[in-house]
Amino acid sequence: MAQTWTPNSWRQKPIQQVPDYPDLVALEAVEGRLAKFPPLVFAGEARRLKSALANVAEGRGFLLQGGDCAESFAEHGADTIRDFFRAFLQMAVVLTFGAQQPVVKVGRIAGQFAKPRSSGVEKQGDITLPSYRGDIINGIEFTEQARVPNPERQIMAYRQSAATLNLLRAFAMGGYANLENVHQWMLGFVKDSPQAERYRKLADRISETMDFMKAIGITSENHPSLRETDFFTSHEALLLGYEQALTRVDSTSGDWYATSGHMIWIGDRTRQPDHAHIEYCRGIKNPLGLKCGPSLTADGLLELIDLLNPANEAGRLTLICRFGHDKVAEHLPRLIRAVEREGKKVVWSCDPMHGNTITLNNYKTRPFERILSEVESFFQIHRAEGSHPGGIHIEMTGNDVTECTGGARALSGDDLADRYHTHCDPRLNADQALELAFLLAERMKGGRDEKKMVVNG
Ligand code: TRP
Ligand code: MN
Repeated sequence: MAQTWTPNSWRQKPIQQVPDYPDLVALEAVEGRLAKFPPLVFAGEARRLKSALANVAEGRGFLLQGGDCAESFAEHGADTIRDFFRAFLQMAVVLTFGAQQPVVKVGRIAGQFAKPRSSGVEKQGDITLPSYRGDIINGIEFTEQARVPNPERQIMAYRQSAATLNLLRAFAMGGYANLENVHQWMLGFVKDSPQAERYRKLADRISETMDFMKAIGITSENHPSLRETDFFTSHEALLLGYEQALTRVDSTSGDWYATSGHMIWIGDRTRQPDHAHIEYCRGIKNPLGLKCGPSLTADGLLELIDLLNPANEAGRLTLICRFGHDKVAEHLPRLIRAVEREGKKVVWSCDPMHGNTITLNNYKTRPFERILSEVESFFQIHRAEGSHPGGIHIEMTGNDVTECTGGARALSGDDLADRYHTHCDPRLNADQALELAFLLAERMKGGRDEKKMVVNG
């Protein structure tokens, strides 16, 4: 197993989900160009994220990871990025207060372009075409031409990632993320929500805390940490030719890093231990995510943990569990028990989106109640097992889309047609995302009170 790793050793392994590029010479030329482009992120940043995640693994923090199912070329623009960041930061404030712990902020953004598909082809009427695999590979339009994988798209995805990241860095450090701003937006959301009463108590307590800090002289002028935030990027490392081209040696440590994003994850469909995706990921030093679905056995998980994190380093590996609201109770406990028994250090995160997709009126959708229910079960199970429910991983947007049903505004199946814009799976809109944060914060607080009672009693 301890074979030498190189950035291209994955090419010797069997691989799933590879696009059928008709022009391999053109593909190689693009990969050669990408290999000369500047890195998008730096090794030092990835290490900083790893140490923040190490705290989460040890029970002292919470991971918020979210963004589009698939970023698209068509929706690339300053407003989309700003609106996403705005919704995301509001969630972060609410969760920080609920957890009374630092929230590690990781976007599914600035690189989330490639999609695994359950079928290689899509049928409409009598016509069968290759499936859409994300804008980095082919076009979403149902035409023969659009569906041909085009390597030039990798260059476009790289450039879009760079521009997105540039704006996010400016927002995170340039004043936009000021806690006071974010708090004011959050109050605006609460005021307009049909559930205002329910959220007001928590919002008022945050307001009081902020007023108290101001009263004792803690302000964003004298405390940069109140106006700045650490924001990291992540995506599924699916298109390995692209990842390899952006894999670079860190001059400080001499280690290999993926510089396409701070954290990358391995999908539930591409986690075969002897295949290419695991091979690529084991050799880079970034923090990694591993999607865990119902078919993953406890032994299978332990094998993957040993491959991906042989030194059992906290913060290296985040297990992103996606079972479905009705399956989480069956699958999560056995995985937790195996990991705990072996003393493996991981971050446990809950993806309540991917196991809860249904079809309604010909739209792929996700009922908000099922999303909430999976996260609630996730928290309860961890509480029962004595492990730390370390984070959530969600598909969301800052825009007012109608893709998931339910929520305080009670979107119905008939509303889906109004603003259904996703390039792949249905996302929570800004209101639904923030509601989820409020409902979780209530539960987290409840959990802490329970723990205190146990300690005191
Ligand atoms: N720097 C702190 C943090 O990132 C506090 C903070 C500043 C913050 N702006 C924020 C928290 C926006 C959440 C959202 O946690
Ligand atoms: Mn998805």
